[in-house]
Amino acid sequence: MSLFCTLVLSLFILLSLINYNVHGVGINYGTIGNNLPSPKKVAQLLQSTIFDKVKIYDTNPEILEAFSNTGIDLIVAVENSQIKNLSENQSNADKWFVTRILPFIPSTSIVTIAVGNEYLTDDQLLDHNALFQAMQNLHSVLLSRGLNRKIKVSTPHSMAVLASSFPPSSSTFATTLLPVMTSIVALLSDTNSPFMINAYPYFAYRDNPSMVNLEYALLGNTSGVRDPKGYVYTNMLDAQIDAIRSAINALGFGNQTIQILVSESGWPSRGDTSATNENARTYNTRLIQRAQLNKGTPMSPKDRIDVFVFALFNENKKQGGVSERNFGIFNGDGTKVYDVDLSCEFCSNEKFGGKIESSLLSSRGPSVWCVAKPHADEKVIQAVLDFCCGPGGVDCREIHENGDCFQPDKVYAHTSYAMNAYYQMHGRNYWNCDFKGTGLVTFSDPSYGKCFYSHQ
Ligand SMILES: *[C@@H]1O[C@H](CO)[C@@H](O)[C@H](O)[C@H]1NC(C)=O
Ligand SMILES: *[C@@H]1O[C@H](CO)[C@@H](O)[C@H](O)[C@H]1NC(C)=O
Ligand SMILES: *[C@@H]1O[C@H](CO)[C@@H](O)[C@H](O)[C@H]1NC(C)=O
Ligand SMILES: *[C@@H]1O[C@H](CO)[C@@H](O)[C@H](O)[C@H]1NC(C)=O
Repeated sequence: MSLFCTLVLSLFILLSLINYNVHGVGINYGTIGNNLPSPKKVAQLLQSTIFDKVKIYDTNPEILEAFSNTGIDLIVAVENSQIKNLSENQSNADKWFVTRILPFIPSTSIVTIAVGNEYLTDDQLLDHNALFQAMQNLHSVLLSRGLNRKIKVSTPHSMAVLASSFPPSSSTFATTLLPVMTSIVALLSDTNSPFMINAYPYFAYRDNPSMVNLEYALLGNTSGVRDPKGYVYTNMLDAQIDAIRSAINALGFGNQTIQILVSESGWPSRGDTSATNENARTYNTRLIQRAQLNKGTPMSPKDRIDVFVFALFNENKKQGGVSERNFGIFNGDGTKVYDVDLSCEFCSNEKFGGKIESSLLSSRGPSVWCVAKPHADEKVIQAVLDFCCGPGGVDCREIHENGDCFQPDKVYAHTSYAMNAYYQMHGRNYWNCDFKGTGLVTFSDPSYGKCFYSHQ
């Protein structure tokens, strides 16, 4: 085979990889620390990583502002202390929405409102029904404003909402929570919203190290724990997710698909004997790998599970034991606590940097360009344009008024021009044409008239 054919063939293999949909991963961004970087810096830090969804614990306006036009989706939260107020009537919920959320959309992509955090298992807060009422009021607000498809309402639970979690197939919610859980799950089902669970194999292991296999807790591929119904669990997180699934089914929602979302999971690097850098690195690495796959659990193999890693930073002002302050992947100064690969094969060049670049897509390869996908989300496209012409360093004069590529004056056309320039500038690695899934490598020259798309 000639060198040229080899190159073309390799390129086709790369192109087929591009079409393979790698899912992004979520991260929890808590801010209970006095040494954390500014939200603006955090948004920049995250843009070069696999994390494309961020969950916060309030509606901090500085954070909402910092994540505008980043292409990163946000889950924001109603603090537990606000739930009573929002539960009282829709007009309270509307006020909350108008002051906390409305000013930031759509430039900040807020996709979900998490109402409270582990509210039902917080000993201080006994009015369970207030949670449901607050969720329903917020949903009504979204509905009345025509935003109910864009923004979902849910609430993260701890595993303590279960009466028992083993075996997974016979788990049920605690008896006292059955009425409120039935209302909540019905609302989630009606509104096509996810059931959120904070699932920590770490705590199960820490509290019972002699009974639990560490590899099983660490998401290892162990020989497995067999459920009486025949499901085989190779790791504890899958068993925890299916325990929740069974409890939902036991409420009578078995014939509906309610998506389960892991709103928190992680492993601390300090605080007790199993909280080591090595275990934290192992768990979070495997969790991130798992989150990228199109993979469900033994009970429902086809239902992909979205995961939000806990947490972005070590938070030095958090209450509780030492481990509570050491769940972070990053220190306050932005350095990693331990080595974990957060690079995104399709959006940064850290992972394969150099290797493929020099051997396959060197300047002697066939001509290729990068353009915007025709049906890509316009908001993301706009964010990509802003990035390329700003921090991305592309010379965008040709798409400004009087430039040769100003016409057609369409955001897709301008973004294609900028994407291509960025892609060519960075050595034409296929991951430099990802742009959060909105870029496309093409063999046909997009140049027209006097508008010239550079290539090498
Ligand atoms: C909503 O509830 C609050 C009490 O929290 C009350 O002050 C207010 O008048 C109520 N508004 C409506 C429209 O009922
Ligand atoms: C309830 O929340 C609304 C909007 O956030 C606020 O204006 C009002 O003062 C709150 N009421 C109480 C009793 O806290
Ligand atoms: C887990 O182990 C089993 C049996 O050893 C193997 O068949 C399977 O492919 C492994 N799965 C993963 C994800 O490594
Ligand atoms: C699910 O089951 C309920 C009660 O068993 C029934 O009323 C409902 O129609 C079923 N829904 C679907 C989509 O099958």
